[in-house]
Amino acid sequence: MSNILDDKISFKSIKDNILDRFSHSNETPLLDAMMNYKKQPMTGFHIPGHNRGMGVNPKFMDLVGQNVLNIDTTDEFDNLGTLHPATGAIAKAQELAALAYGASKTFFVTGGSTIANLALAFALTSPTDEVLIGRNCHRSVLTGLIISGAKVNWVIPKKLKDWAIFGNIEAQEIENKLKNNRNIKLVWITNPTYEGVYSDIKKIAQICKQYKVALIVDEAHGCLWNFNSKLPTSALHLGADAVVHSLHKTGGAMTQASMLHLAKNSKFEAEKIEHALKLLHTTSPSLLLLSSLDAARANLTSALGQEMLNRAIENAQYFRKEAKNIEKLSVLSEVDFDVTKIFIKMKGLTGLQLEYILEQDYKIEVESASDEGLLILSNIGNTREEFEYLINSLKDISSKKYDVTQKNVKIMPLIDPEIVMNLREAYFAPKESIDKFEAIGRISSEVVALCPPGISILLPGEIIKKEHLPYLFTYEKLEVIKE
Ligand SMILES: Cc1ncc(COP(=O)(O)O)c(C=O)c1O
Repeated sequence: MSNILDDKISFKSIKDNILDRFSHSNETPLLDAMMNYKKQPMTGFHIPGHNRGMGVNPKFMDLVGQNVLNIDTTDEFDNLGTLHPATGAIAKAQELAALAYGASKTFFVTGGSTIANLALAFALTSPTDEVLIGRNCHRSVLTGLIISGAKVNWVIPKKLKDWAIFGNIEAQEIENKLKNNRNIKLVWITNPTYEGVYSDIKKIAQICKQYKVALIVDEAHGCLWNFNSKLPTSALHLGADAVVHSLHKTGGAMTQASMLHLAKNSKFEAEKIEHALKLLHTTSPSLLLLSSLDAARANLTSALGQEMLNRAIENAQYFRKEAKNIEKLSVLSEVDFDVTKIFIKMKGLTGLQLEYILEQDYKIEVESASDEGLLILSNIGNTREEFEYLINSLKDISSKKYDVTQKNVKIMPLIDPEIVMNLREAYFAPKESIDKFEAIGRISSEVVALCPPGISILLPGEIIKKEHLPYLFTYEKLEVIKE
């Protein structure tokens, strides 16, 4: 009986919480401040020196237009506020973002989730700490840990070999690692993967709690999850302490605009993270990018944004249904996935070949291509007509025979790393640059990662093996530790 009552209470509180989170969708403090700024003619003697476009190359003016140059400014004016510390309209916009995401605190970041990850590592770890991170983490997590010097332990996600990508991280794997090493104080994983595969974060968070370990979830590719129940639940509501979102990737903000959130019961001190962000962030944050975060949050919680998001989900469902009728085409679906991220492959073509054909013959750009397949994003900015065109193009390609000469280039390393040195020690050790074929058996001293997806092929401290070579096709030389 009490359980039923508890359920009712929690359902009501969740509903109230969502209504509350969405109730400020028409408030856009920073966007409004920027509109006022744009309207007010001023005689300016300050940075940026182009002075609202007067000093730019006329071709550049043609390209981007007066509007953009009018608002290309940084956070040095009282009516707009400052980012570090957050004041004025910027502070208000961050508060509304925290409310919309259900976070205790949200920081706006103009250097992408890269800076958010660097700041988390810098603020929360030191050379005496041990952390557990997923082998498929973004290179910015590694860079952060090179800066901090923390000792890294690895958890290897499942390998989806038929697709040549990493899958989810098993909660049991995390538990095994924590059980065997009680010095680990932080677990840091990527969820979802770039291709949309997600892990059981609720279970992972429970395990972290049990072992009194903090949890960071790099949800760079999941910034829409908070806004539609058909998408997976954000780690912010499943027990993570901090979550990173690249709003510029799929949330409708401008390139480089991200958010770093602390969860309601986060173990982390906001001041520490704020301080690290201040030190690592540019001292001239672009107001254009910051206001795009305010706009994206307001949009996603508005009726219009909800419509866009529903459309993105319906388009993805439409694609997945139609794709079943296309000969030779397979869609990744045997795992837990975010419906809007569609990873496909076509028999007889590598992912890169299919990407090339789509681009050259059909003028279709996809998100990325990998060893086996390619990634299509069903975005809030896509229409049904675009998906119909994509489906028809894939049907057409599937019915043709291609004389393919392009090699199958490998970009996603599903190799178990043999790591023999601490990241930071290896990075700063005396090194030499040698031919990659000579480097087999030596210790790498650099992060080698192709973007996208930014997952490392080699890490500082990792033994270079012949299995790495197919992934290093753009490299002739590698940096290794001097013997
Ligand atoms: C999982 C993950 N985290 C962080 C980043 C860095 O994001 P940004 O490009 O916003 O700096 C990326 C970029 O692709 C990513 O895939």
